[in-house]
Amino acid sequence: MATIRVRNTGQVIEGEPAVKAFLEDNGVYYEHWTLERIPADMRDKFALTDDEKQRILESVQDDIERLAKARGYVKWDLISLSEATPDLDVLLKKFEQVHTHTEDEVRAIIAGSGIFVIKGRDDVGYFDIRLQKGDVISVPENTPHFFTLTEERQVVAVRLFIDPSGWVAHPYNDPAFQAQA
Ligand SMILES: [Fe+2]
Repeated sequence: MATIRVRNTGQVIEGEPAVKAFLEDNGVYYEHWTLERIPADMRDKFALTDDEKQRILESVQDDIERLAKARGYVKWDLISLSEATPDLDVLLKKFEQVHTHTEDEVRAIIAGSGIFVIKGRDDVGYFDIRLQKGDVISVPENTPHFFTLTEERQVVAVRLFIDPSGWVAHPYNDPAFQAQA
């Protein structure tokens, strides 16, 4: 289950109702998927072949299609990051820059964990949301954010797109960003 930490105040928000309410208040869509449907040999596996990725996507197809229909996504894929990823540290360094997109950024965590750092309402400022298996969020378009891994350093996630070409990262230089959580 996702947990939130507000960078300005150190406030921690836990438990689905409170997390959902905080996110809603800050314009971030959240839902939770049950993942027992994923074939047992695919669960918690991070080095995945294309065929295995396809099988995972097929196992959660009903949730993907429901979300796609409700929110207008037309494409999706499955990404995996772990120590097996070439140049993981270089990649993470590149990820950890505050940026925006003209489309929203959707992630459904299938295995492992990840963190989105997101700029909330003006009176909230930046917050970190730690996402676990089953957590699904959409960072709204034009909202400053970045994604990184937790200390576990591995994640498998579904990404959904309205228009992949709108998903280019635009650097967002913010003197108000607190580099230390
Ligand atoms: Fe992004």
